[in-house]
Amino acid sequence: MLFYPILSGYLFLQDHFVRNNLPILTETSRGGRYSHQAAAIFRTRRLYWRFVRKHTSVRELHRSCPIAMNTVFRSCVARLSITVLGLGLISAPAMCVENGLARTPPIGWNSWMVFDLNINEKLIRSMADALVASGMRDAGYDYLVVDAGWKAKQRGAKGELIADPTKFPSGMKALAAYVHTRGLKFGMYTDAGSEDCDSGAPGSLGHEEQDAATFASWGVDFVKEDWCHTEGVNAREAYRKMSDAIRKTDRPMVFSMCEWGDNHPWLWAAEVANMWRTTGDSKACWDCGRETKDKPGGYPRGWTLILDAQPALRQYAGPGHWNDPDLLVAGVKGVPIEESRANFSLWSILAAPLFAGIDPRSMSPEVADIFLNKEVIAVDQDPAGVEGERVAKAGDHEVWARPLRNKDMAVVLFNRSGRAARISVSWKELGHQQGEALTVRDLWKHKDLGSYNSEYSVVVPSHGVVMVRIGIGR
Ligand code: GLA
Repeated sequence: MLFYPILSGYLFLQDHFVRNNLPILTETSRGGRYSHQAAAIFRTRRLYWRFVRKHTSVRELHRSCPIAMNTVFRSCVARLSITVLGLGLISAPAMCVENGLARTPPIGWNSWMVFDLNINEKLIRSMADALVASGMRDAGYDYLVVDAGWKAKQRGAKGELIADPTKFPSGMKALAAYVHTRGLKFGMYTDAGSEDCDSGAPGSLGHEEQDAATFASWGVDFVKEDWCHTEGVNAREAYRKMSDAIRKTDRPMVFSMCEWGDNHPWLWAAEVANMWRTTGDSKACWDCGRETKDKPGGYPRGWTLILDAQPALRQYAGPGHWNDPDLLVAGVKGVPIEESRANFSLWSILAAPLFAGIDPRSMSPEVADIFLNKEVIAVDQDPAGVEGERVAKAGDHEVWARPLRNKDMAVVLFNRSGRAARISVSWKELGHQQGEALTVRDLWKHKDLGSYNSEYSVVVPSHGVVMVRIGIGR
């Protein structure tokens, strides 16, 4: 009988941490492992899960919608408490958007990082061609997303969205058709407020049904909805409106929320969207943009600062609904190759949507090697859909790990320091026994490294990674 109140207490604590943006994972000052409280919270979560699996009848819900974990826990605990009290009432379970899409994190290309507002139909067509010619489409990058900069400054006579007639004279339907002929899916951008973020074009506020219907009629497969000019707008209601409007069209469209984490979307967004941004924009720099006055943590900010905001969110992601730490900065002008490899590897450990922000027409061979690395992409796209996490940190040396469906672990040894350093991962950190023989494969060198018994240790370049797959060997 004491079980439920204790679990509820932990749940409350966890919610409190998440809602107030407190770090759930605290680390010891010795730079070692998670603290005892953090470990206890994680153990309790696992307990919750075991309990939920065993006792609830909404099997499909939590198999496909673990985000709603908190909500499921809450509803589960509430339901059981009520049953225990003999009231015979059943609380409604939380539902996922469940449009059958994004069973693995969406992967593709987005225009914003490289072209800003400077886009037009000729350019976008050449991007579609380059995604095919570069081999990116065949490696899995199947969404081409046109971000801000496509809309005309005014709606049409019937209130409909129209494309900028100078930049997109043939219209978006023709462009979508072109993209489709290249074997790609077509994504578009709008905003939940009265105006888009940077272009001054109209947002979708008050026009959700009309705009979703317009997108569907153009053959759109992916809708990104931003969060500018939303003073007084309730995020949850606004994104639900667009989500319902999209569902009403009957056209399968991935719904990508871009609300920057302001309203803790991980707590509720799986009910409406397939992915949600967890932070402000990622900048193509290591850790710049630390502070701005209106956004603690900086806006936009360097990609390692974005990374630091992710570990506490892993339990909210899963097939159909993903945490989105923003576009990849890998390969973007000015980002060194080691950092690019690190960004790509860590985003894959995070089960992040992988959206390239490069110009695919002019990739150097080193950058192409990153984007076409099928072994790393396979980690990102692992069908189990479990987001990875940091399992060890000693100063600037970190180990990130992600469990994969075949029971292997994908592991990234990450060196944030200014000089090359030896970093180790122990089998214990991966949940294995010391002494167990495990095979190691280097995913950047594409090389089997043999069998190890207690740890794997390697020199990692400054600001770089070594990424390996560790398993029992088959
Ligand atoms: C915001 C979003 C970005 C991008 C721009 C476009 O900053 O967070 O991802 O869409 O708007 O203006």
